[in-house]
Amino acid sequence: MSPTPEIRIQDLHKSFGDNEVLRGIDLEIGQGEVVCVIGPSGSGKSTLLRCVNLLEEPTRGQVFVGGTELTDPDVDIDAARRRIGMVFQQFNLFPHLTVTENLALPQRRVLKRDKAQAARIAAENLRRVGLAEKADAYPSSLSGGQQQRVAIARALAMGPEVMLFDEPTSALDPELVGDVLAVMRMLAHEGMTMMVVTHEMSFAREVADRVVFMDGGVVVEDGTPDQVIGAPRHERTRHFLARLLDPAMAEVEEGISGQGISDRAGGKA
Ligand SMILES: Nc1ncnc2c1ncn2[C@@H]1O[C@H](COP(=O)(O)OP(=O)(O)OP(=O)(O)O)[C@@H](O)[C@H]1O
Ligand SMILES: [Mg+2]
Repeated sequence: MSPTPEIRIQDLHKSFGDNEVLRGIDLEIGQGEVVCVIGPSGSGKSTLLRCVNLLEEPTRGQVFVGGTELTDPDVDIDAARRRIGMVFQQFNLFPHLTVTENLALPQRRVLKRDKAQAARIAAENLRRVGLAEKADAYPSSLSGGQQQRVAIARALAMGPEVMLFDEPTSALDPELVGDVLAVMRMLAHEGMTMMVVTHEMSFAREVADRVVFMDGGVVVEDGTPDQVIGAPRHERTRHFLARLLDPAMAEVEEGISGQGISDRAGGKA
């Protein structure tokens, strides 16, 4: 752990009405660290990511990114958010804009870059994700995997210090997952600080510095991939991993309650 973490989450709580979804999360992510967050459906993984860039307002606790407290009521939240790139399961590209225009629009609106500069930075980032030749294409002509790489390039074009990924490959056909993971692997090797919610255990094992297992709105385990995936200390972690690796078995074991995660894991693990 570096002395000043890039992301620091302290005693983070989030409730929706009576439903306390995050129940005191403490997490530090060092500069250049890649942390994969795993856990069952409903455990609060997306809510945690959304609290880190204040798409959701925490009920209690603090979030720091690059030394700035995002939860400080006086913070310039738009400026702070610009330092955080986010990639979702759905790519959310504008269908009526070309790939280049999709990348240029937020740069021009948010960063006030001029047209030429935005186009140049769009081209640079399309190259990074291996899609230079799709600059003038419309999203509908791209595969899901290509669209997700465009969405990653769009986030990168904003020059973020940290990247948050929320199940970036779970909407993709299995054969398209690899190209997206390859881009994420490249970013990790370049030293990007990344928080990745994923069920791609082989990616987590290979790329993550740490794996965090969440259940019921708390961090149950936090350690190296070898520790958390390879030798989980908690029964809840073991149970989750067993279900993920063998969904059919879990359904037999649990009847209908095994349905959620097994559908979503879809044998990709
Ligand atoms: N905007 C919201 N309003 C009300 N409840 C919400 C909202 N967002 C999330 N929740 C609730 O918070 C809980 C955690 O949801 P969250 O999406 O963070 O889980 P998750 O771990 O990401 O699950 P999944 O693996 O299915 O994506 C769920 O019970 C969900 O219904
Ligand atoms: Mg989620």
